[in-house]
Amino acid sequence: MTIADDLNKAIYGGSPYEGLDIGSYPLDLQGWCDEPQIFDSVIAEAKPELIIEVGSWKGTSSHYMLNKAPNACMVCVDTWLGSSEHWVSPEFREMLGFKNGRPTLYEQFMANVVHAGLQHRVVPLPLPSRLASIVLQKFGVQSSMIYIDGAHDEALVSEDIEAYWPLVSPGGIMLGDDHVEAWSGVMRAVARFRSKHRQEIEQTQDIRTRWRATKVTKPKGFWSGVTGR
Ligand SMILES: C[S@@+](CC[C@H](N)C(=O)[O-])C[C@H]1O[C@@H](n2cnc3c(N)ncnc32)[C@H](O)[C@@H]1O
Repeated sequence: MTIADDLNKAIYGGSPYEGLDIGSYPLDLQGWCDEPQIFDSVIAEAKPELIIEVGSWKGTSSHYMLNKAPNACMVCVDTWLGSSEHWVSPEFREMLGFKNGRPTLYEQFMANVVHAGLQHRVVPLPLPSRLASIVLQKFGVQSSMIYIDGAHDEALVSEDIEAYWPLVSPGGIMLGDDHVEAWSGVMRAVARFRSKHRQEIEQTQDIRTRWRATKVTKPKGFWSGVTGR
């Protein structure tokens, strides 16, 4: 039994992959995961047992991380309904795979997990990210590596960072995608987080398109904000 099996049992009473019809959904890992090698150093540092990903789409980044961290399991949080940008652009809308007016991203994501034989390592959580964070907190889940790649609207990015930062274990790392001018809302949300939580952040940096922050292992003292120690 893996941590994912335990969590799937606790949440779903068993495997959510049982009886899944994967025949209609051949492996399709179309996604947005530029420069995936950026994850490698974070995995090496965080040594995660359970990675939390907010925004999985069809699973491109999830599969990459699970391949690079062969002993880790993963909680994948997504509504699997797409983000606002996917609904307004004709090119992206196509990718949602509508069936009766609803995207089939969840079906595709789940089938991809089975195609890759990752059923014992992935916990799908098909909820709005904020709700999912509450569920995870209630199940006592913490993680040394949390990846934020859900909505890109400023207020929603802020909400995700604030909701998942408490789930980062001491010394753990939160990182996020699209920290670029083209997504200025992401940049503003990250800047606000860095300023608001500076006392709880050991180290923070940008790695090309991604941002990351390491949580302190012990609370900084009153003077540490001034001395930096
Ligand atoms: C850019 S895609 C993720 C790409 C993915 N990491 C990959 O490797 O292809 C963003 C995802 O976030 C999900 N999403 C957006 N807002 C969300 C929210 N508030 N709660 C949960 N999922 C959300 C969308 O459904 C979409 O699948």
